[in-house]
Formats: sequence, C-alpha cells, structure tokens
Amino acid sequence: MVDDVFRSVARRYDLMNDLMSAGMHRLWKNATVSVLNPPKGGRPWKLIDVAGGTGDIAIRVAQRSNGHADVTVADINEAMLEIGRVRAEKSGFANIAFREANAESLPFDEASFDAYSIAFGIRNVPRVEAALAEAHRVLKRGGNFVCLEFSEVDTPMLDRLYELYSFRVIPALGRSVAGDEDSYRYLVESIRTFPNQERFSDLLRAAGFARVTYRNFSGGIAALHSAWKT
Ligand SMILES: C[S@@+](CC[C@H](N)C(=O)[O-])C[C@H]1O[C@@H](n2cnc3c(N)ncnc32)[C@H](O)[C@@H]1O
Repeated sequence: MVDDVFRSVARRYDLMNDLMSAGMHRLWKNATVSVLNPPKGGRPWKLIDVAGGTGDIAIRVAQRSNGHADVTVADINEAMLEIGRVRAEKSGFANIAFREANAESLPFDEASFDAYSIAFGIRNVPRVEAALAEAHRVLKRGGNFVCLEFSEVDTPMLDRLYELYSFRVIPALGRSVAGDEDSYRYLVESIRTFPNQERFSDLLRAAGFARVTYRNFSGGIAALHSAWKT
C-alpha cells in the first residue's frame, strides 16, 4: 500500500513538499545535514540514506562535503529512486548510488556505513523495530543514526491549527496538485499513529543505540533524532 502511495505521488513529490511545508522542509533537511556533518576530505566517509526517495538528503550531503562523501540512497520505490537519479545527475553528483531496498532488510553488510539517515521515511515502515535493528547492524561502531520525522506538536494552539491544516488543507492540496487526495490523507494519518519523540527515543535505546537525543522543529511538527552505535 505504501509502495502504491509513493508511486502515485512521485512525480509531484518535491513540489508538494514545498507547498505543504511552505518550504520549511528545506530548513529541517539542512539542519539534518548539519548534524550528519559530512567531512570535506580525509578518510572515506560512507552514508546510507534510507527511504531517501528523490535524493533530498543525499544531494545536500554530497554538496556539503564537496563530493567527498560516499552516499547510497536506499528506497523501496523505484519511481522515487528514478527521480532521484535524474536530480543527482543534474546536480553534478552522478556518483550517488540509488538502490531499491527495504529498510527492514537492507542488502548491505554489517558495519558498512559511518552514518545512517532517514528523513520522513521511518513512519512508513510497517516494522519500525526491524528497521532500527537493521540501522544498527549496517552502522560501524561509532556510527551516527539520524532521523528526521514528523512528530508530536507540544505547543497549545499550534496543535489545533496544525490539526485543521493537516486534515483539511493537505488532502485538498493533494487532490489539486498531485491528483491524489487519498495518498495525502494516508500520509497525514501516518503522522498521528507514529511514536512521539519520547517513545521513538525509547525504541532507539531498545535497538541498542546510545547517546539518544532529539530536537524539535516548529513546535514539534518535525523532530530530529540522533543516536550512536557504540
Ligand atoms: C515521505 S518520502 C521521504 C523521501 C525523502 N527522504 C525526503 O525526505 O524527501 C518516504 C519514502 O519512504 C520510502 N519507503 C517507504 N517504505 C519503505 C521501506 N520499507 N523501505 C525503504 N523505503 C521505504 C518511500 O518509497 C518514499 O520514497
């Protein structure tokens, strides 16, 4: 079902992100890349961007590292990956690898990556614990797990406005821009059922991660989680 959703929205995915978040997702993604802190030189540094879709995080990391980072995008949906491949080439980063893969069973060896990122992807994965176990497995010791996800709004008034916006405006935008109201209704509903900041932090600790922290953006509309494999 998730695969159908992203096949349906792939063509208008980037435009919809800008419209729905009034461009805010760009700032949140830039902050995600700052936390990943890819080196511009020195020893090789490998990132896996899971559920990386159209390459937003991957391309930013490649730019921030002046092309030094070795970046692999893994996503279950070929339509999203294809758009990402074209964008990466146009941005001058044809060396970014795009692989079809399920976050719950990654086709990579243990301890292969220095960093793992997942932006607005983990709430779409049916077995979150399995995805976190895989993240832990493919990271090297000392590797950083970074997750950007919609989360729980903790600011009075903003939560009511956000509720109205999510359930009235976003499905209507989905209908008029992407021609698909149902997919955007699903995306909004999946935000409400995903574990909030504290519960997700608990899942990270249960998966074996240490130094688990998060920061909220825009009153908790999105949260950026960081954790380490020690
Ligand atoms: C909302 S998009 C996020 C794309 C990108 N990370 C971004 O921030 O713009 C969610 C992505 O998760 C992918 N996805 C959903 N379930 C997945 C799974 N089990 N394994 C890997 N990718 C998955 C979808 O195909 C889609 O590209």
